[in-house]
Amino acid sequence: MKLTVVGGGSTYTPELIDGFARLRDTLPIEELVLVDPAADRLDLVGGLARRIFAKQGHPGRITTTSDLDAGVEGADAVLLQLRVGGQAARERDETWPLECGCVGQETTGAGGLAKALRTVPVVLDIAERVRRTNPDAWIIDFTNPVGIVTRALLQAGHKAVGLCNVAIGFQRKFAKLLGVAPGEVHLDHVGLNHLTWELGVRLGGPDGANVLPKLLAEHGDAVADDLRLPRQVLDRLGVVPSYYLRYYYAHDEVVRELGSKPSRAAEVAEMERQLLKMYGDPALDEKPELLAKRGGAFYSEAAVDLAASLLGNGGSPVQVVNTYNNGTLPFLADDAVIEVQAQVDANGPVPLAVPDLDPLYAGLIAHVTAYEDLALEAALRGGRDRVFRALLAHPLVGQYDYAEGLTDRLIAHNREHLAWA
Ligand code: G6P
Ligand code: MN
Repeated sequence: MKLTVVGGGSTYTPELIDGFARLRDTLPIEELVLVDPAADRLDLVGGLARRIFAKQGHPGRITTTSDLDAGVEGADAVLLQLRVGGQAARERDETWPLECGCVGQETTGAGGLAKALRTVPVVLDIAERVRRTNPDAWIIDFTNPVGIVTRALLQAGHKAVGLCNVAIGFQRKFAKLLGVAPGEVHLDHVGLNHLTWELGVRLGGPDGANVLPKLLAEHGDAVADDLRLPRQVLDRLGVVPSYYLRYYYAHDEVVRELGSKPSRAAEVAEMERQLLKMYGDPALDEKPELLAKRGGAFYSEAAVDLAASLLGNGGSPVQVVNTYNNGTLPFLADDAVIEVQAQVDANGPVPLAVPDLDPLYAGLIAHVTAYEDLALEAALRGGRDRVFRALLAHPLVGQYDYAEGLTDRLIAHNREHLAWA
C-alpha cells in the first residue's frame, strides 16, 4: 500500500507517522511519500519520520519530494494537510476580523472565509493532478476549512472524504471519564465541520445505551471546563457542543479575549520553531511531547482508521466523517456536506440516519450551510461581491457595515493568494 501526504513538511507529520507506526497492522503501509514545497522542512520532518519508523520496527519506506506529480504516482490514498500561506496567513486571519469587532479564527467567521478562498483553488488543482495519474486514489482531506474544501472536491467529482479530529477527541475524552475502551464509545455527532454537537454518547455500538445524561451528571464540570463554557449551558442543553460553538455561544466574550492576547498563530509559530529544531536532532526518534500542545491530537488515529476502511483493509465500520448529506438532514440539500457518523468501506462513506433535530441546532446548521454555499461560490468564482455576500450570510457577521469592512480587509490581506483580486 502506498500513501502520499501533501503538506508532509508540516510539524504535525510526526503525529501522523507515530500513528502509522503504532497502527501498522490496521494500515500496512509499504511506501509513504511526504510531499511539500518547502525542501528544508521536508529534510527535517522526513529524517525524524524515518527514525520513528526504524525505532518501531516499521518496514515501510519513507521518501520525500517537492514534485507533487511524482509524489502521488501510484498512491492508493492521498492525505491533504496543507496550509496555504502558512502560519503567517493564519495570523492575519486571526487578527483583522477583530478590527471590525468580529471573531478572529482560522476556520470560523471571516478568517475561515479567507482561508477557504486561499485554499479551495489550490486543493482542486492538487486533486486534479491526483486524478490524472491515479483515478482510483482516495483523497482524505484534513485541510481546513474541511466542510467547504470537501464540498469543493466532491462537487468536482473527486473520490474525497473530509476528516477532523474533534469527534475522536471527544470519543477519547469520554472513554477516559467513563472508564471504558475508546472503541466502545459511539457518538451521536451531528452538524457541520467545526459546528457540531454530541447529542448522545452510546456504549458498545451506534445503537447502544445512551450514557450522556450520566456522563454530564457525573463529569459535567470536567467537560465544561475543557470547552471553556459554563457547566450550566451543558446542563440546559443536555448535549455537548464542540469547542468551536464557543465562538457563537460566547461570541462577545471570545472577541474581548482574543483582543487581549497574542494570536494562536503566533503561539503555534513559536512552537513550530522549537519543534523543527528538535526534529533536526538525530537522536530524536519519537514524536516530542511538545506536539501534544497542538490541536491535532488523535488526528493520526482517525486518519489510519479512515484510510484502512477506504482501502478495504478493516478499520472501524462506523466513523465520523465529512461527506454529502444525501437526505440525512432533511432540511439541507443533498449536496451539502455534513459531519456525522457514517458507515465507511471501500465504496466510501454512507451517513447513518439522524433523528429529527431540535431547531436550536437545525437552525444554526442551516444558516452556516447557506454561508458555506456562498463561500464556495466566492472561492470558485471570485469577486468582491461574492465575498461580501458570504460574509453577510455568516451568522457571526450579518450586518452590512461589518460585512463591508471585513470584505475590504479580507481582500487587502490576501491579494497574493487570490487570482482575481
Ligand atoms: C483542531 C481542529 C483542526 C485544527 C487544529 C488547530 O485539531 O480540528 O481542524 O487545524 O485544531 O490546531 P493548532 O494547534 O494549529 O491551533
Ligand atoms: Mn478540524
